[in-house]
Amino acid sequence: MQVHPTIAGLRTALQQATQAGQKIAFVPTMGNLHDGHIALMTEARAHAEVVVASIFVNRLQFRPGEDFDAYPRTFEADCARLRAAGVDHLFAPDEAEMYPQPQQYQIEPPPEQQSILEGEFRPGHFRGVATVVAKLFNIVQPQVALFGKKDFQQVMVIKNMVREMAFSIDIIDSPTIRANDGLALSSRNGYLSAEERAEAPRLARELKKVVTAIRGGNRDYSSLESAAKQALTAHGWVPDYVAIRRKSDLQSPSAHESVLVENLVVLAAAKLGSTRLIDNMEV
Ligand code: PAF
Repeated sequence: MQVHPTIAGLRTALQQATQAGQKIAFVPTMGNLHDGHIALMTEARAHAEVVVASIFVNRLQFRPGEDFDAYPRTFEADCARLRAAGVDHLFAPDEAEMYPQPQQYQIEPPPEQQSILEGEFRPGHFRGVATVVAKLFNIVQPQVALFGKKDFQQVMVIKNMVREMAFSIDIIDSPTIRANDGLALSSRNGYLSAEERAEAPRLARELKKVVTAIRGGNRDYSSLESAAKQALTAHGWVPDYVAIRRKSDLQSPSAHESVLVENLVVLAAAKLGSTRLIDNMEV
């Protein structure tokens, strides 16, 4: 695997592949890689001759007071995992390379996409994500890019950005990878104490209960959301939201709308101690 700290170095290395007509698949990450990331790298290989990963902890998508400084940086271990996964190129810029001056041109997703759910609790987060992803797309120029569905809203924002900005890139979303006890894999799981780690799978269990209830015919969505929040609160969690939404645009299905339940997703975010976890399940 070739490691490229600069945009120029990566572009030179990828020129050959492009000239030979080889397809490039790209997996952007913030590092601290787990099996969920590696599954994306493996899937990327099925779509293209050349697999490019990136590791960049993107300051723009963190608010002051969030975990930008504390975000786990495990570069050597990440490189070993990427090599073992057969990744061809790793783009690993520092901040001076990505943002040599303050990033004044930014991608602003529409309010109805960026101010709901995660965006309500992390204002500006999706502007930061869309901006860095657009910049990475310009740098790597992939034909295919892969993202995990654990960040369901992120995938929606990126797909819409790609469509509206006419990026010629296929966005592939891949299923969430879970630990044996159901906890969705996330770099932030590393913040959990042993006791919190034992409690953490409750988030997925509550989502599953909501999904099962909807599949079983329950259409009282607001009661289902409240019951899940209460169950989490009763076990020491501080929920930001449990929300049953349409998959297509993450808006609430209105009471009079006949949305097929297969078109719904249940999303949740909640704090356990000082760690904020998110998860979702499609109905
Ligand atoms: O999902 C992530 O790790 C990040 O949001 C991404 C897509 C790499 C952008 O920084």
